[in-house]
Amino acid sequence: MAVTIKSEREIELMRESCKILAEVHLKLGEAIKPGISTWEIDHLGENLIRSYGCVPNFLNYNGYPASICVSVNDEVVHGIPSKERILMEGDIVSLDAGLIYKGYHSDAARTYPVGRVSAQAAKLIEVTKQSFFEGIKYARAGCHLHDISNAIDAYCSQYGYGIVRDLVGHGIGTHLHEEPQIPNFRQWRKGIRLRPGMTLAIEPMINMGSCYVEWLDDDWTVVTEDGSLSAHYENTVLITEGDPEILTLLPDQTLI
Ligand code: MF3
Ligand code: CO
Repeated sequence: MAVTIKSEREIELMRESCKILAEVHLKLGEAIKPGISTWEIDHLGENLIRSYGCVPNFLNYNGYPASICVSVNDEVVHGIPSKERILMEGDIVSLDAGLIYKGYHSDAARTYPVGRVSAQAAKLIEVTKQSFFEGIKYARAGCHLHDISNAIDAYCSQYGYGIVRDLVGHGIGTHLHEEPQIPNFRQWRKGIRLRPGMTLAIEPMINMGSCYVEWLDDDWTVVTEDGSLSAHYENTVLITEGDPEILTLLPDQTLI
């Protein structure tokens, strides 16, 4: 399937889908505290999504068994929620969530500290988030895909972090995953030229140590090979004639 350009009507539906997801994330973030299980986070997330009349798009996607991916510490992405997994003070937790509104998908992820965390963990979370904002400086009509990848890589590499290569961002719209793939690491090929109406899920996954990852026996949970911490930050973004629109942030969250 080729890269899709959304019509004005489709863009409106994407905006609404993403705004609902931003609200879901806000409420999930407020629920993060020591003692909560990753199952409770998923349960809350699924109920929130359905309370807006939307459908969780991760649930049953290629057999994924939950609505929210909850990944703790060295888990990079796609952690499976469990009643036995209780968040503890000092953990970091990545929440990846998505939903479908009137046929249009949204996708976003944030990493949170659980209570007080080490200065190094807090730094990893902050740099990962900032790398997204470095990347979207190039999420503009006329730029090429590799401008985004290269900006994320250049920013994270300064800190000696490992940039995950086995998983990438993606186009999004009537499907959760559309073309193009959006790597977070240095690309020598330019990739496609960005055009207004493209909607992209840009999602750096950054490890404190090695860039290498492994899959657990559940065939979902991705962990760092060296056991180091990992952070994830993702938003669905609209390419416009001017500045990119970060669709999965609420208006007061974009002022950074
Ligand atoms: N945000 C993830 C992505 O972009 C989606 C989760 S994969 C799923 O690929 F299987 F859990 F849906
Ligand atoms: Co995604």
